[in-house]
Amino acid sequence: MTVRPTLAVVGATGAVGTVMLQILSQHADIWGEIRLVASPRSAGRKLTVRGEEVEVVAVSEEAFDGVDIAMFDVPDEVAARWAPVAAAKGAIVVDNSGAFRMDPDVPLVVPEVNPHAARRRPRSIVASPNCATLSMIVAIGALHAEFGLRELIVSSYQAVSGAGRAGIETLRSQLAMVAGTELGTSPGDVRRSVGDETGPFPAPLALNVVPWVGSLREDGWSSEEMKVRDESRKILGLPGLKVTATCVRVPVVTTHSMTVHARFEDEVTVDKAREILATAPGVVLFDDPAEGEFPTPADVVGTDPTWVGRVRRSLDDTAALELFVCGDNLRKGSALNTAQIAELIASEFTA
Ligand SMILES: NC(=O)c1ccc[n+]([C@@H]2O[C@H](COP(=O)([O-])OP(=O)(O)OC[C@H]3O[C@@H](n4cnc5c(N)ncnc54)[C@H](OP(=O)(O)O)[C@@H]3O)[C@@H](O)[C@H]2O)c1
Repeated sequence: MTVRPTLAVVGATGAVGTVMLQILSQHADIWGEIRLVASPRSAGRKLTVRGEEVEVVAVSEEAFDGVDIAMFDVPDEVAARWAPVAAAKGAIVVDNSGAFRMDPDVPLVVPEVNPHAARRRPRSIVASPNCATLSMIVAIGALHAEFGLRELIVSSYQAVSGAGRAGIETLRSQLAMVAGTELGTSPGDVRRSVGDETGPFPAPLALNVVPWVGSLREDGWSSEEMKVRDESRKILGLPGLKVTATCVRVPVVTTHSMTVHARFEDEVTVDKAREILATAPGVVLFDDPAEGEFPTPADVVGTDPTWVGRVRRSLDDTAALELFVCGDNLRKGSALNTAQIAELIASEFTA
């Protein structure tokens, strides 16, 4: 194996890939070659990483020649097709898509919570969780380690970039349509103005919130809601954890927010919870409502940590806490977590 591993970034041109290139340029440079891969549409484009222009190559078997670690920031079906090819060619894959997360032979890793899981990878694939799960799981993992988690009831307020470049473009064009108008004052006026231009969303997002993220699953649940449940259980190693999620899209470009009701084994105190959150790696406690201090997506965007505010003990349950959590879905919610996993694995190469 090479001392400085060769890295492939598959999906380098996408919303997550773009942030990945920024992160790779900001973090300690542990990589040998960084190869940028996307669809044939992008072949020949030049992108900047580590201050140098690198030409994008189309995905192919040869694109993985000599690659030690391959990050996949592409749609599920593209990862399902190409990640096993990269693994067969000797690369360790770190996959950001949903294609392998619930495969029992693929660990689902958040380095602050379950770094040990990344060492067992029978398929040579390690998965990074969905952005909604990642928005809260670092803070929840820290509280679980102290108090023992029994139940999560969460509502998400998810940004449009969770739906990739198409999501960002849709919100920006809708905002341009409604800016400076009196829209939002009579039933359906925004919908009529926006017309069919709802992009990847089932309803207009400008001047609106939409209680739907993902695709329809059994009994009215959405795929995003099931991901929050299944992935939280797998990361925390709590297969029986009670989880209820309601996922909502809001007109925010980047940074997901969550309200969290977390119930633990025994009585909890706000003081102890605050102490844990204030010292947990990757978490910032920002919680002084008297001073107007709580996280908001507009302030959190572009930052790495999970920001926690509004920490309260439930009025009717001394074993439960209420939190408001914000995390940048393109940084910790996807690219940063993937980069951290890749760096964790790369450290094995030089150990
Ligand atoms: N956005 C988030 O907050 C977030 C969070 C966690 C996980 N994820 C996951 O990360 C993945 C990427 O999401 P994104 O938001 O970055 O999507 P995106 O903006 O739509 O970008 C998609 C990327 O995949 C590439 N691609 C598409 N079809 C391809 C093909 N047939 N062969 C090779 N490359 C192909 C695109 O290349 P071209 O430019 O050449 O088309 C582009 O680089 C998805 O699985 C998503 O679920 C996203």
